Amino acid sequence: MKIVWCITGAGHLLRESFQVMRELKESKDVKITTLISKAGEEVIKMYGLFGELNYISGGGYYEEIILEREHPSSSPITGRLSLGKYDYLISSPTTGNTVAKVVRGIADTLITNAIAQAGKGFVRSLIVPVDYEAGVVITKLPYSIDRKKCNCCLKCVEACPNGAIIVRKRFPEIVLSKCLGCGRCKRVCPNGAIIEGKEIKMRVRKVDAENTKRLMELEDVVVLKHPKEILEYLL
Ligand SMILES: Cc1cc2nc3c(=O)[nH]c(=O)nc-3n(C[C@H](O)[C@H](O)[C@H](O)COP(=O)(O)O)c2cc1C
Repeated sequence: MKIVWCITGAGHLLRESFQVMRELKESKDVKITTLISKAGEEVIKMYGLFGELNYISGGGYYEEIILEREHPSSSPITGRLSLGKYDYLISSPTTGNTVAKVVRGIADTLITNAIAQAGKGFVRSLIVPVDYEAGVVITKLPYSIDRKKCNCCLKCVEACPNGAIIVRKRFPEIVLSKCLGCGRCKRVCPNGAIIEGKEIKMRVRKVDAENTKRLMELEDVVVLKHPKEILEYLL
């Protein structure tokens, strides 16, 4: 089975999506080409998951990692979808931004173009939007610093291999756009002030939930609530 897996810039359901990608990869005869939006690349790094992609999409034919940042705007790679070369397109997690564009027929990014070309090429798309229904979801942040516990020893600043922790008015601060989620800062902090995966409540806005309903009406699109439903659907 050949799959295109699209990842957009959502932290919500990101770990869960990677778990399913790993499980699919381990099942027989599945090749995964991974397509990643610009925001997706940044967010995957912040959550420390980027390295795992080399296992999921090992680099062979139909097992490439395609970064939007490195590809031309017309996304020629999506031609494979319009030619019907894949069995499925999967998009998980899918941001409110990408869903909003898709339901309006916009195809000006790697992922929105891939979904459009899948529709044109009779390739079924399984899409997991992070904003499934209006209400509240609990989601996890990437690394953050609890200022109440921090004693400003700045060991984290020294430990960060990517210069992603700066000092502002004595306090260390994580610059998320540089963070690679390696966790070294957390390991050297003597006070447990670095938190990985702090839980926060987020509102799913009505506008985003309405877009998800519109998504369900598109040809050959199956909308799923959680990445684990992808496995149930495919296997
Ligand atoms: C750490 C982090 C987590 C994010 N999580 C979400 C999310 O769960 N859902 C969402 O819709 N946007 C989220 N965003 C915002 C998107 O990355 C942003 O809207 C981006 O423009 C989406 O672009 P894309 O749809 O092309 O990937 C997050 C941003 C950051 C920095």
